[in-house]
Amino acid sequence: MALLKIARMGHPVLFQHAKTVADPGDPAIRRLVDDMIETMLDAPGVGLAAPQVHVSLRLFVFRVPESRGGEGTEIPPSVLINPSIEFLSEEMMMCAEGCLSIPAMRGMVPRFAHIRYRGVDCDGRAVEVEARGFHANVIQHEYDHLDGILYPMRLVDFTSFGYAAEFANAANGDAP
Ligand code: NI
Repeated sequence: MALLKIARMGHPVLFQHAKTVADPGDPAIRRLVDDMIETMLDAPGVGLAAPQVHVSLRLFVFRVPESRGGEGTEIPPSVLINPSIEFLSEEMMMCAEGCLSIPAMRGMVPRFAHIRYRGVDCDGRAVEVEARGFHANVIQHEYDHLDGILYPMRLVDFTSFGYAAEFANAANGDAP
């Protein structure tokens, strides 16, 4: 396995509409997925989409750490190939997001609170899962990467966008 170079905001691959994976069972896809999982864990991050490693294909890897999922909802590193998302209610939630392609920053982004997603894994097996909360947040963020959308493009309050360390300082009451 290998660590992959992560494209940062500004690289054109991040703004492309990624192509459908023709053969999810292709061993080259499995190698890519294995490398993406290693890269995500090394970063560390909770999600990584193929365009972020300069591969314009519709697949991403993700995980839900126990610290973020709550109530025993930990999800180990997983892959979703050729995904689709269905919004199960109009309820929205505000999510504090970061992105490995936009290091050190974060912003508040509105996301659908209850979704169902579908796709296939590296064995071509169908995946169909209902998700809420952080799990639903990660899926929507990674899915956006496949359509060339980065989270700052979804900001509704630009004052929520900035360096994570500055927000942390402010929350701790430290003087600037
Ligand atoms: Ni991202």
